[in-house]
Amino acid sequence: MITRSLIVGTGSYLPERVVTNAELAARVDTSDEWIIERTGIRQRHMAAEGEWTSDLATKAAQKALDAAGIAGTDVDLIVLATATPDRTFPSTAATVQANLGCFGGPAFDVQAVCSGFVYALSVADNFVKAGQAKTALVIGAETFSRILDWEDRGTCVLFGDGAGAVVIQAAPGDGSATDSGILTTHLHADGRHRELLYVDGGPSSTQTTGLLRMHGREVFRHAVVNLASVVEEALEATGLQPADIDWLVPHQANRRIIEGTARKLGMALEKVVMTVDRHANTSAASIPLALAEAVSDGRVQKGQLVLLEAMGGGFTWGSALVRM
Ligand code: ACO
Repeated sequence: MITRSLIVGTGSYLPERVVTNAELAARVDTSDEWIIERTGIRQRHMAAEGEWTSDLATKAAQKALDAAGIAGTDVDLIVLATATPDRTFPSTAATVQANLGCFGGPAFDVQAVCSGFVYALSVADNFVKAGQAKTALVIGAETFSRILDWEDRGTCVLFGDGAGAVVIQAAPGDGSATDSGILTTHLHADGRHRELLYVDGGPSSTQTTGLLRMHGREVFRHAVVNLASVVEEALEATGLQPADIDWLVPHQANRRIIEGTARKLGMALEKVVMTVDRHANTSAASIPLALAEAVSDGRVQKGQLVLLEAMGGGFTWGSALVRM
């Protein structure tokens, strides 16, 4: 017998305000057609003034706890993925912990940009497997609208704000690929590419927050290659085949990248959970947002095999295979 981490609840939160492509086209030299054709994005949500990443995260986490039927007091670990924390410190996870009233266990942020949720899930899974946590909240939450250069049409049209969360809980498994729970996770980074997607500020370098900078073409090229290999790795580690996967829940950066991965796996687009059209790229929040949507509308069912994958600044990339 081994210990598995079961996903026992999912939740999400999107800020009320919706910003359409047309609204952006009134601000910068772009068009609805260009954005849809290159990215698949039609709109994004934007946090209100005074609404912080921890506010989004707390709402998503509370929904995940409610869905799991678990009280905040039962949570003994919080791992929160974000590249847009409320403050340089303390961690946004610490604020969420206070908001939810689940004191005492470890709470910390993970920074792997768009791969953040897969990183956080893997970290929490390892805590559970090591016997150091029984009930963990894994959250992805971002307010990317706060680090965008609204004069740069190449980046400001791509991102949105939001949060998603899952509750994972320790359960026995037999170690086979038919187990429920997180079956395998795979994480990678290659810091040589850190200048292709970055924020040009920080406490140590400029003492400012900075704004997002990206070489879009290069990011695109690496994303397609890295995602294909990390998906392959997850299948090899479990002996599963692409045909075994019920749902692909990818990081939602760009419709063309998602379609490329699905094509490589030979998966029909009906088996891909797509939210990029309505949420845009919410970085670490995009996978748990998409997963929560597909669970709540009944697409993702108990017992089904779900593949998560992401790539982001660093570069970082990763995958997780989960049986719900
Ligand atoms: N509206 C209109 N024109 C634009 C816009 C815009 N919003 N942005 C750029 N353009 C113009 C450029 O100025 C350029 O014009 P030029 O030829 O006159 O110089 C032209 O469009 C082509 O620009 P490219 O940047 O080469 O366009 P590309 O086809 O590569 O599409 C995009 C850009 C959508 C950013 C693409 O490179 C991409 O999706 N890259 C992946 C990046 C990504 O998703 N990053 C998210 C974070 S990382 C991650 O999550 C994986």
